[in-house]
Amino acid sequence: MEMLSRPRRLRTNEAIRGLSRETRISKDSLIYPMFVREGKGIKEEIPSLYGQYHYSPDTICQGVEELVSCGVNKIMLFGIPEHKDELGSSAWQQDGVVQTAIREIKKNFPQVYCITDVCMCEYTSHGHCGVLCECTTVDNDKTLELLEKTALSHVRAGADMVAPSDMMDGRVLAIRKALDREGFTHIPIMAYSAKYASAFYGPFRDAAGSAPSFGDRRSYQMDIHNSKEAMKEIDGDIAEGADIVMVKPALSYLDIISKASQRIQLPLAAYSVSGEYAMIEAAAKADLIDRERIIGEVAVSIFRAGANILITYHAKDIAKLIDEGKIG
Ligand code: PBG
Repeated sequence: MEMLSRPRRLRTNEAIRGLSRETRISKDSLIYPMFVREGKGIKEEIPSLYGQYHYSPDTICQGVEELVSCGVNKIMLFGIPEHKDELGSSAWQQDGVVQTAIREIKKNFPQVYCITDVCMCEYTSHGHCGVLCECTTVDNDKTLELLEKTALSHVRAGADMVAPSDMMDGRVLAIRKALDREGFTHIPIMAYSAKYASAFYGPFRDAAGSAPSFGDRRSYQMDIHNSKEAMKEIDGDIAEGADIVMVKPALSYLDIISKASQRIQLPLAAYSVSGEYAMIEAAAKADLIDRERIIGEVAVSIFRAGANILITYHAKDIAKLIDEGKIG
């Protein structure tokens, strides 16, 4: 049988490449994580994440302004309190660090969409994601009550969406019910559904001071060898009322993103975590890679795999690459 030669025609010029492109990236799909630390006048570069900063609630708007000027208007906030205790009680105070920062941001940038990370690990003295029972494991059900209180306090301060990252069983439903009960039926939940027990969180734990003081998170984060289990976690969170589900980390988990995107009818977020950022920055500093092209290629790969939303410390860089027409 006569065969046509393979069609290279779709690659011949810029216009046709644009027309036939399969993956589009928009600034609207980007979320930028930011760290807010209790105190005043703080703007300190995070040693493990160069180019990323700790802000205090009174300076965070400087960082938000930079982001907005790149055309990105969605953030995810992480809080670092001064006071940590066994329960993590600073997490749900109305004048807590995240709550104060949200009010500040909303006052100055009402158009900026604020998502909050809801977890106890930055607030507990032991660094685990919940209350401990018998001092060694996390008490799932007691932790749920604290997560509800924390999520509610964020929303009362003006958060537009909450993102529980703790991996306790039943947390999405618990938070959904608490929000509905208080009249916040319109506030969506983005669930960290498939969150692996990954070494890629290393730099974040330095940044948030949240490394567990003993043990690890393997009892509540997923085994890196498993993929079907991720689908089960995602299905469970959707059944509990999640509006967006997330896979985390991103780059080593493109297979999970791809599978999930084919399976679900909801928006899928991928979190390109601190270790992914730090590796690119370190390699670029050592002049081993073309930083910009790698940032673009990584972002494209995550969307190509099927993510609809990307949470990334490179959000500003990606926005610039889109502006320059290098990706998008
Ligand atoms: C937990 C949380 C973590 C990250 C986001 N939320 C740390 C962890 O699970 O140990 C990691 C994000 C990153 O590495 O960039 N509150």
